[in-house]
Amino acid sequence: MSLAPQPLAPHPLAIVILAAGQGSRMNSDLPKVLHPLAGVPLIAHVLRMAQGLEPARLVVVTGHGAEAVERAVAEHAPEAVFAHQAEQKGTAHAVAQARNALAGFEGDLLVLYGDTPFVRAETVQAMQAARADHALVVLGFQAADPGRYGRLVTDGEGLERIVEFKDASPEERAITLCNSGVLCGGAGQIMGLIDAVGNANAAGEYYLTDTVALARAKGLSAGVVRCDEGETLGINTRAELALAEAGFQARARVEALESGVTLTAPETVFMALDTMIGRDAVIGPNVVFGPGVTVETGAEIRAFCHLEGCHVSRGAVVGPFARLRPGAELAEDVRVGNFVEIKNAVLDEGAKVNHLSYIGDASVGEGANIGAGTVTCNYDGVMKHHTTIGARAFIGSDTMLVAPVRVGAEAMTGSGSVITEDVPEGALALGRAAQVVKPELARRLMARLKAVKASKTGKGGRDQGEG
Ligand code: UD1
Ligand code: MG
Repeated sequence: MSLAPQPLAPHPLAIVILAAGQGSRMNSDLPKVLHPLAGVPLIAHVLRMAQGLEPARLVVVTGHGAEAVERAVAEHAPEAVFAHQAEQKGTAHAVAQARNALAGFEGDLLVLYGDTPFVRAETVQAMQAARADHALVVLGFQAADPGRYGRLVTDGEGLERIVEFKDASPEERAITLCNSGVLCGGAGQIMGLIDAVGNANAAGEYYLTDTVALARAKGLSAGVVRCDEGETLGINTRAELALAEAGFQARARVEALESGVTLTAPETVFMALDTMIGRDAVIGPNVVFGPGVTVETGAEIRAFCHLEGCHVSRGAVVGPFARLRPGAELAEDVRVGNFVEIKNAVLDEGAKVNHLSYIGDASVGEGANIGAGTVTCNYDGVMKHHTTIGARAFIGSDTMLVAPVRVGAEAMTGSGSVITEDVPEGALALGRAAQVVKPELARRLMARLKAVKASKTGKGGRDQGEG
């Protein structure tokens, strides 16, 4: 056993995420925190970071669009509980709504905003560490343009108070150290301070920021932890959302390149929050990753592919111009070529679907070859049905596989077949009309048609042959 001193465990943590605001400047029917950023709702970014801190409780305060917001939160963080703020009376009032959800909790409370997606876990950990010196810790940043942010007024002992822009004097407005809104302190203490917050200010709101001056008046200390301005970027408008997207993508591309992924044209590749790409994978130009994609080491995604909810194994090659939809599972050395769509289908090792095909709700065995233009007819208008294709089966071009249906291992289907019955292992199935050949009939038919045309128009009759 080591005798080295163990680092002090931080206090147990509860996190409250404020997400009740309307976000009226988005000019949208969709609640602000549900607008997508990197393929997932804004609030999913905050939830993911919060989950990384392993909080004892995770509370989301909802108001505008509560039902939709709660559904999205439950999808990304099923452990989250909700507090409702019917009327938005300010950030302190919003935190107060979490009182019941925090009942009996003893430890630190961290307040985050649902519309501020880039705060890093390391930054919060620095705030938790600063709690050793201060009752309240606020996350601040030096603003290039302090605009309408709350200003942090400091003194010899740390943070004296926070003044909102609307209430600030010209001297206070000249301060460039601004409030990010992220705040940490003892849960019981913050709740007690909130009780004393009034709304006699320019906005007529209950400001969470007032807890700082109230703490100081009680002889408690407050401090500031600083972070980069980019980390506290809050989304209020579509322009800010677009800026945040660009910032996310720029960082994601750099991270991918640094981790050993080849991006031929990095500026044209778009990733989601959870995109995982292995070392020595090669990603061509104009590739879009939706949520839930894993690409293993050494796989290649060629130009103009769209992937979401799928897994691409080592040595597989996808595209150009392929679409992998949720549930597409490609084993090692699989080939998926141009104009192919794969959905909810497992392709075993070395299977090939190289051209113009739809493979949905299917299992494709090892080394099977799917000819051009093959379609799994998986939907009867009401239900989806499964197609099973055995190992090393050979599906002829333009085969319609009418599910539910099974093609056995090493079986073949003839080109143009409509397969409605199971095909046993090793069998050849032909599901098409037999070919009929009529000697010379094509020439005679053509001549007749041309003669008919000539008799109607009076033109071109002479060199058209007999009719
Ligand atoms: C707040 C801070 C300000 C800081 C800025 C950083 C206060 C009083 N001010 O100002 O010092 O510089 O954030 O972006 O805290 N919300 C609710 N319910 C409410 C009010 C707000 O849930 O009743 C949520 C909003 O949805 C949003 C967050 O709290 O996610 C911040 O509210 P917002 O109105 O944007 O505060 P700011 O005026 O930007
Ligand atoms: Mg704001």
